[in-house]
Amino acid sequence: FGTMELPPRPTLFDFHGVSMTKFFTANWDSIQNFKARPDDILIATYPKAGTTWVSYILDLLYFGQTCPEGHMSTSLHERVPFLEITIPSLLSGKDMADHLPTTPRLIKTHLPVQFVPKSFWEQNCRIVYVGRNAKDNVVSYFHFDRMNNGQPEPGDWSSFLQRFMEGNVVFGSWYDHVNGWWEKKQTHSKLHYMFYEDLIEDFGRELDSLCSFLGLSPSAEEKERIATGTKFDNMKQNKMTNYSTVEVMNQNVSPFMRKGKVGDWKNHFTVAQNEQFDEDYKKKMKNPKLQFRTEV
Ligand code: A3P
Repeated sequence: FGTMELPPRPTLFDFHGVSMTKFFTANWDSIQNFKARPDDILIATYPKAGTTWVSYILDLLYFGQTCPEGHMSTSLHERVPFLEITIPSLLSGKDMADHLPTTPRLIKTHLPVQFVPKSFWEQNCRIVYVGRNAKDNVVSYFHFDRMNNGQPEPGDWSSFLQRFMEGNVVFGSWYDHVNGWWEKKQTHSKLHYMFYEDLIEDFGRELDSLCSFLGLSPSAEEKERIATGTKFDNMKQNKMTNYSTVEVMNQNVSPFMRKGKVGDWKNHFTVAQNEQFDEDYKKKMKNPKLQFRTEV
């Protein structure tokens, strides 16, 4: 970064009941009026749940063979635009999505389900949701907010954890997010709800189930190539997937590809924090069908 001036970090405010920053709300009407196409695929997640991983899996599934050279020269965040991001002087995510030359278009969002532009429902688009257990999710989010100058200051770990539990982080409550999207599965059958922990546990099984949802049947060699390309260490080395081209992120503070594990929360939570967290969790997560694993 050297002497380059960075704009100040944004502040959090209440936006229709969800904590947000201006970088995801500035262009609201235009985002709400986004015109989805029936073959668009929306990748929806709470921040830090494995968005980049699943985006790259889908990108390789659809375009790994037809245009492999694209993967060497275009960053993943340009190939899979972030719908609601609006940062002054940069092309907005919505404009990038509008101009995507590919079919299908792969589009990423962190919006809670009630904020998704209605056209995705009208066009009955396929949606891949990825959830990650709250404890690893909050740890990953803490380190992300430390290194990303486009996010509010995280403060120290214990205050960040408190604010996460209260839903006072960007994109609001993790609890509302995962539950809201889970509920949506009941009425929108083209929603595939995946878990980060399952991908860690058995990548092949999860890839097969994703392919069956998408109606794809890649060869064994192709699946092997995808498994290799999307391995944590390979994505960490890959300049097109490790976010090294994004200036607001200071990877000296914490790398974007940080650990890629289940259970790193154990290195962050104190015993007291863990007890308080578990107690609060039980009150917020009443649906017995929606279960997250904090270890595999
Ligand atoms: P950690 O901070 O726990 O390491 P998102 O893409 O939604 O921002 O999520 C980022 C998290 O997913 C980070 O978690 C990152 O390391 C992890 N991740 C990214 N690619 C991964 C991969 N190929 N395998 C495992 N974890 C991955």
